Amino acid sequence: MPPQTNFWILETANTAYAFGLNQAGFLVNASWSLRLPNSQDYPPPPESPGWASFNNPAQVLPEEFPAYGGMCYQEPCLKVTFADGVRDVVLRFDSAATTSDGVTITLRDIDYPLRVILHYRAHGPYDLIERWAVIINDGPTPLMLERIFSAQWHVPPGPTYHLSHLTGRWNDEFHLIREPLTNGVKILESRRLTTSHHHNPWFCLDDGQASETDGQVWFGALAWSGNWKLAAEVTNFATTRLSLGLNDWDFAWKLNSGEEFTTPSAFAGYTTGGYGAASRKLHAFIRERILPHGTTPHKILYNSWEATLFDVNMESQARLAEIAADLGIELFVMDDGWFHGRHNDQAGLGDWWPDPIKFPHGLQPLIQRVNALGMDFGLWIEPEMVNPNSELYRAHPDWILHFPTRQPTLGRNQCILNLARPDVQEYLLAQIDRLLTENNITFIKWDMNRNVSEPGWADAPGDPREIWVRYVQGLYHLWDELRRRHPQVVWQSCSGGGGRADLGILRLADQIWVSDNTQAIARLAIQAGFSRVFPASVMEAWVTDADRGRIPLAFRFHVSMCGSLGLGGDLLKWTPAERAEAAHWIARYKDLRPLIQLGNQYRLGPAALQYMGQDGQRGVLFAFRTCLAEPASPLRIKLQGLQPKLIYEIEGFPGPRSGSAWMASELEIWLGNFESTLREIAVVVGGCPKSKFGQPLSRLKKV
Ligand code: GLA
Repeated sequence: MPPQTNFWILETANTAYAFGLNQAGFLVNASWSLRLPNSQDYPPPPESPGWASFNNPAQVLPEEFPAYGGMCYQEPCLKVTFADGVRDVVLRFDSAATTSDGVTITLRDIDYPLRVILHYRAHGPYDLIERWAVIINDGPTPLMLERIFSAQWHVPPGPTYHLSHLTGRWNDEFHLIREPLTNGVKILESRRLTTSHHHNPWFCLDDGQASETDGQVWFGALAWSGNWKLAAEVTNFATTRLSLGLNDWDFAWKLNSGEEFTTPSAFAGYTTGGYGAASRKLHAFIRERILPHGTTPHKILYNSWEATLFDVNMESQARLAEIAADLGIELFVMDDGWFHGRHNDQAGLGDWWPDPIKFPHGLQPLIQRVNALGMDFGLWIEPEMVNPNSELYRAHPDWILHFPTRQPTLGRNQCILNLARPDVQEYLLAQIDRLLTENNITFIKWDMNRNVSEPGWADAPGDPREIWVRYVQGLYHLWDELRRRHPQVVWQSCSGGGGRADLGILRLADQIWVSDNTQAIARLAIQAGFSRVFPASVMEAWVTDADRGRIPLAFRFHVSMCGSLGLGGDLLKWTPAERAEAAHWIARYKDLRPLIQLGNQYRLGPAALQYMGQDGQRGVLFAFRTCLAEPASPLRIKLQGLQPKLIYEIEGFPGPRSGSAWMASELEIWLGNFESTLREIAVVVGGCPKSKFGQPLSRLKKV
């Protein structure tokens, strides 16, 4: 029988996370599994006698928040140096308080005035548990925080777990890796000041048996856009745990008397529905609980970058805007090159007013033209950066991250402003606020085009190594204030493509520019990795000229239609036939948009994706063939997510049939090299498909 006191069960729709104090007073995980009928059904908190002088209980127990102290050699969540030099924390339970959706547990050091409050919140419909920690210095002297994770998660002991994670680099982000964990610690992290193109603070653990549709999966993500660390550890006692939080690399935080420090939130969940279900839970959660307006579909945008690069002016943009409007584009975004002194990537960053040569009358004439064409207007900015060749740098060379005795390393000819400084935040707030107040701008692409170097902060009020956290806090503060002042603006997070994609930035940004790589074939893999974590609505995807002449336009559209559709090519060069086809797919996307952006997504193997509206009545299937092996064979695709008893028709297949029948059989689709197809799925009402399928391309009129 589990003890009835100091034992907590966080229940979600399908799962339960049980933890409590064991007899020895350790706060330990008891189980994390499917929900059971009665509280007595869950195992009690585990005990550990420790059986040799080398094997103390602290090494063996699944502690919820282990601190570095005593004989704890595994990855701790907390490491502190007290003012007297003691580097040893011994936390014991103090009190607990339940909240409407969770519980908070207070721990205290047995000798030092240090308090740790562990917060747990259940997000019921999504089967997710949110955890974060608050550290409070109740003593008269400062202490130094040297590591502070958000949570440690434990999976049932025994199996060899497989860790799925995302890896890549600039122009090639979000590649999925799945690998077995063996004894020791697997570290994934960012040391780059941003989330990074290289790894993402997301994980999936499975016991080696899971598939896309079945099997136990434990998964989670950290809501943080700076340096982070994930430590997946297999102990020599056949247990597996995973810690997630701020990176302790080059990190220190001076916590003065009476001060507290709050970690970002880590979210984790459990499902028996395989990787697909894990992704869908995250997607719904991100849409409904993280994103500010996650249930509003995004407009189809045109972005000028690949067409005009830095050569933007009234004429070049107006010409593109006219064609974009004809095609059915809803939002015209002018990218880099519009602001003071910006003729290439050598100058201008920091001076956020229109370049007087390119826009002698400001942005108004262009915005008015775009609005007259029936489109909204959006703009690119890169607020965190400064070129040495700018008015801002000449006035405030000390505002950048740097060590005064070192020459700053430039990346793309630019330095990083120290966003931890209030004066830098105030400058940027004033500049961007003015831009948004004076102009009818409803979309901002917020870029960040380099990684950190020389992370010095000369006048830091605390330890200069606080920069890693204070920078991100400054960024969040600035963005949040801009959002508050300009609620009409939709924000896109870009960092040279997908360098800043995480649940932290999605509280501020409505969507993400996934990669600078716009080649359709490369995009298929990048988007598949991205979909592990993020819903299609935040996945901005442009059709560009990258594959023009090599990959059919339909294929390129289908790839981009799997996310939030946009265009980025030089439309002036597109032939009438290409424009007509583009208009066709744009119209079709508008019709399917709610299903794709707000529906449930199913990955049907490497070459097919299905989206179903929330009511299960209508959906769409995309299938791709990149390379045809000889002898040719058809794609065989099994649909998912249909209502078993409803009757559906599927575009291009003889029907109607029940959802059960469609899901039990394989759709046979013949595609040649670099061909793709889009098939609509619709419930049949009174003998007719509820929606008429889109008209074939051959019946299109030319634009
Ligand atoms: C980054 C972005 C691009 C574009 C350029 C402009 O590379 O990812 O989309 O905005 O900056 O300089």
